[in-house]
Amino acid sequence: MYCLETYVSLIYTKRMVNIAIIGFGYWGPNLVRNFSAVKNCTIHTVVDFREERLRIVRQNYPNISTSTQIDDVMSNSAIDAIVIATPVFTHFELAQKALINGKHVLLEKPMTSSVAEAEALIELASKHQKVLMVDHTFLYTGAVQKMKQMIELGVIGNVQYFDSTRINLGLFQPDVNVLWDLAPHDISILNYLKKEKPFSIQATGISHTKNNIENIAYLTVNYTSDFIAHFNCSWSSPVKIRMLLVGGDEKMIVFNDLEPTEKIKVYDTGYSHKTDEEKNKILVDYRVGDIYIPKVESKEALAGMANDFISAITQQTTPVSNFESGLEVIRILEASQQSIKANGKEIKL
Ligand SMILES: NC(=O)c1ccc[n+]([C@@H]2O[C@H](COP(=O)([O-])OP(=O)(O)OC[C@H]3O[C@@H](n4cnc5c(N)ncnc54)[C@H](O)[C@@H]3O)[C@@H](O)[C@H]2O)c1
Repeated sequence: MYCLETYVSLIYTKRMVNIAIIGFGYWGPNLVRNFSAVKNCTIHTVVDFREERLRIVRQNYPNISTSTQIDDVMSNSAIDAIVIATPVFTHFELAQKALINGKHVLLEKPMTSSVAEAEALIELASKHQKVLMVDHTFLYTGAVQKMKQMIELGVIGNVQYFDSTRINLGLFQPDVNVLWDLAPHDISILNYLKKEKPFSIQATGISHTKNNIENIAYLTVNYTSDFIAHFNCSWSSPVKIRMLLVGGDEKMIVFNDLEPTEKIKVYDTGYSHKTDEEKNKILVDYRVGDIYIPKVESKEALAGMANDFISAITQQTTPVSNFESGLEVIRILEASQQSIKANGKEIKL
């Protein structure tokens, strides 16, 4: 005999999840492609208020319905879940409406425009007992999974710093600054790899377009331990760099996302130091050893994310990129905005 909860869960496991995707701009097509391949999932409708985008959906996916009206999916009882891939300033209103209408929700990163909005959605999801998830795609990459595994196994020793550079000649966004646009990826990785909660942040940035939207910004995240994290984000660089360093007291990892295959290198590099009491000086001994290239899983991260969302609905699993990680990213971004406007003032979290 099954208890009621198991029985309900079995019914859930077997049935198809019908989803609607709102937003078929730059990122929406990737979501449609990946959700199309998920077992137990059917894309019922794609919504975008630009008819020319919907024409592309109909050409490529004749079985998917299209609509320019979000109410067509919000009020449709055949739709179980809504995936939102629209600009960030629309996320809260769309997700709120979806949750109130009894839908599970997957939000593109960044989750919302403020901590208050993110918290309100979490409360709503809990009240309606619906899955609320945020797409922090990088958490599903083979590289990040490998780094997490190495850190947890103690391969690099005590983790001391995290340093990320994400710069290129980027698309200037009309509504959010470069940190809100680019840093969510790296902040979500930081929070995933480092369980300790940050203590404070400091950020500086500049807007060269005179619209108060920073196109270059630097963010430092401080901890009560001696760990530190730093982010360099820019839409104004002549070269594209996607580089992340994670330094331990035994080894250091370099993650270069532009490398086609050798994305992660582990450097057996380090130093030890002692104090020369007589000369009142720090003496540093360097160690430069081998470089190791671990094999990382190469399957598409977005496929892992899409499967995780559907499993969370059908099997009540906790997704890797859950709403808590979404909220923690927004907490840091909101504080960074405050700090930039106060010329780099330290903001306690
Ligand atoms: N996970 C990732 O790696 C990744 C990568 C790129 C973008 N994103 C995120 O995806 C989201 C969308 O970004 P994008 O670059 O695709 O934007 P975009 O502007 O290219 O596309 C957004 C689409 O949504 C439509 N739209 C906007 N508001 C709507 C509404 N209320 N109803 C119906 N349609 C609406 C627009 O017509 C447009 O076609 C953002 O949150 C962005 O940060 C995530």
